[in-house]
Amino acid sequence: MIKVENIYKNFGKKCVLCGVNLEVCSGQTLVILGSSGAGKSILLKTLVGLIKPDSGSVTIDNVDITKCAPSDLQKIQKKMGYVFQEAALFDSLNTFENVAFGLRTLTNLDEQGIKNRVANCLAMVGLKNVEHLKPASLSGGMKKRVAIARTISYKPNYILYDEPTTGLDPIMADIISDLIISLKKQLNVSSIVVTHDINSAYKIADKIMMIYEGKIIFSGSPEEVKSTDNKYVQQFIKGSSYGPIQQAYRIFEME
Ligand SMILES: Nc1ncnc2c1ncn2[C@@H]1O[C@H](COP(=O)(O)OP(=O)(O)O)[C@@H](O)[C@H]1O
Ligand SMILES: [Mg+2]
Repeated sequence: MIKVENIYKNFGKKCVLCGVNLEVCSGQTLVILGSSGAGKSILLKTLVGLIKPDSGSVTIDNVDITKCAPSDLQKIQKKMGYVFQEAALFDSLNTFENVAFGLRTLTNLDEQGIKNRVANCLAMVGLKNVEHLKPASLSGGMKKRVAIARTISYKPNYILYDEPTTGLDPIMADIISDLIISLKKQLNVSSIVVTHDINSAYKIADKIMMIYEGKIIFSGSPEEVKSTDNKYVQQFIKGSSYGPIQQAYRIFEME
């Protein structure tokens, strides 16, 4: 289980995470919605110990990773898969080597074991005959799928996805949403997905939270998101420039 209690993270004087609390139960998918700059990526990075919060705790399988020894943090990190926002593949490595990378460093599999596991993971994300291709030859959707194959290759218990559908056409975005659901069922993983893709959120979430200026301002089921009268959530799901969010970004006429 992942439990976050009252975490704060400042960069200079700017409070990026200002008292965030959340909990993900076993086998569930939590979606965190929020606009650009709301603190979504920073929150995910604190959950895997890439960023240390200034205060508060992040407890994963009963270990507070903000206070534990580096060796305990490494053990926890092996249970966590992170799908980065820009896929973050190694440009100089082909697809096979990109997926095999974690297996070579995190497992004791021999070469045949690695081959089998890579083939299995690529099949699970719906990719065939791409082992020899480098990232530059892959479409955006293929890159995301290779990144997901790499993440599931070492069988994590948790998967954190940073904007998995951003930058994809609506059909490919839906395919990635289906893939997230399929992996949850097949691997029985608990997932946290940060996104601003509301359609994907409705489809994949057991629970949805909305983060705004570093605070969780709403938490509920997809149905509760649709019916809430919270003005921030309403503005976000309508995708309107009018409302309480980001008034400062509104465009004014020249005087
Ligand atoms: N290393 C950093 N130094 C200073 N400010 C940062 C740093 N990383 C992120 N920020 C700021 O923190 C805020 C939240 O960033 P981020 O979590 O990346 O947003 P998003 O919700 O778009 O993923 C933004 O205002 C960003 O400019
Ligand atoms: Mg981000």
